[in-house]
Amino acid sequence: PADAARDDAGALTVGGVGLTELTERLGTPAYVLSEDEFRTRARAFRDAFTAAFAAGDDEAQRTTVDVYYAGKAFLCTAVARWVIEEDLCLDTASGGEMLVALRAGVPGPRMGLHGNNKSDAELERALDVGVARIVADSLPEIARIEAVAARRGVRAPVMLRLTPGVHAHTHDFIATAHEDQKFGLSLTGDTQETSEAGFTGSPAEAAVDAAVAAEHIDLIGVHCHIGSQIFEPDGFEAAARRLLAFLAHVKDRHGVELPELDLGGGHGIAYVPGDTPREPAEIATATAAVVRRTCADLGLAVPHISIEPGRAIVGTAGITLYTVGTIKDVRVDVAEGQNAATAIRRYVSVDGGMSDNPRPVLYDADYSAVLASRTSTAGPALCRVVGKHCESGDIVVRDVYLPGDLRVGDVLAVPATGAYCWSLSSNYNYLPRPGVTAVRDGSARPIVRGETETDLLARDVPDAVGETDV
Ligand code: LLP
Repeated sequence: PADAARDDAGALTVGGVGLTELTERLGTPAYVLSEDEFRTRARAFRDAFTAAFAAGDDEAQRTTVDVYYAGKAFLCTAVARWVIEEDLCLDTASGGEMLVALRAGVPGPRMGLHGNNKSDAELERALDVGVARIVADSLPEIARIEAVAARRGVRAPVMLRLTPGVHAHTHDFIATAHEDQKFGLSLTGDTQETSEAGFTGSPAEAAVDAAVAAEHIDLIGVHCHIGSQIFEPDGFEAAARRLLAFLAHVKDRHGVELPELDLGGGHGIAYVPGDTPREPAEIATATAAVVRRTCADLGLAVPHISIEPGRAIVGTAGITLYTVGTIKDVRVDVAEGQNAATAIRRYVSVDGGMSDNPRPVLYDADYSAVLASRTSTAGPALCRVVGKHCESGDIVVRDVYLPGDLRVGDVLAVPATGAYCWSLSSNYNYLPRPGVTAVRDGSARPIVRGETETDLLARDVPDAVGETDV
């Protein structure tokens, strides 16, 4: 986070809080979240997109923006409150995420609900709290939303999740006619053309027809989410062009201009030195220009815009602290044949691992690490930081230079663990999941309590032998 520094003794601080002292009180592993960094990033997205879309020569080119923070990246009551205090909305993807939002007092009209397989109970909760939109993912779901809304005697605000055929991979994106994945409604019609006419006969068109015909559905717009950890604006631009072309097709077919366009999340962050994601303002300006131009070409008013960043708001606000345990030097082959050589790789084991951060093992994700508890003038040693789980893939940082005098008891900090670490954490090997401590202006407060050994046993049923009643 931007508020990381070193104190006079050389120990790392975040938000004015000494991390050594924090670990002495809390133990490790521990997640630390910089409240300032979270709020600053939330505001950056809100302000950049609002400003970019408020520009434009005439009224029809200007529009408003809602930023939905994607709670799946990291969510607890405190964070949901920050989201609302910063004037953002909250995107949820399950009944449980809605429950946390409700506990935080998030008003229904500032919530959205996603998911490719929502239960009736989730749809009922969404309608009862009056969410701003339910993002429908399939034709059968539209029928289910209609049925649930009819039973409740309410109208459901619905967006359609579409697959624009843009698959963004960091810098790169490749257009495919059909995306072979579980989300969304395809825009490709029976003619297999990618032109506007090519929408005819598409699942997306059928979904619009069904939603428009449904008595208890207000069709408010279309949505897409093109991928994760995207650095460049071009994927968002291509997706916006395609969805706007579809909105023009809907206008021709039904005589209505759907009022909202959601371009999803996926904005990238720097995990390791050398990662260079674009600033929110650059993405916003580029996307807004494309949206304005495309709308002018198609004769559409610029729709209300929404986006759903998760990682780009919370990712760099989080760090994980670990204590160094076993250090082992292993001889490894670094070349073969005539150049055959061996080197020493230093395996540094820490007291967590894939249970608190499964991203390296799931996605081959890169992280870095720094010595947090002191500074050292010892020369660097190439290290692999590994966890304590019973799997050789349990790696925290694949390659990182750490001081050569690293020793048992040192505390390491792994930056950029705010997104998809706590939310993907597990109790593998019966490790208690770490708590989350928010730091700001020199004070630290728990926002998620760390699990205890009592928690670990809480759901275990020791006396169940012979019992068959469930
Ligand atoms: N909107 C929708 C509909 C999504 O499916 C997602 C993420 C987001 C927004 C937020 O994306 P973000 O801005 O955070 O990239 N576990 C993976 C990421 C899974 C993302 C799932 N959907 C990881 O750790 O990289």
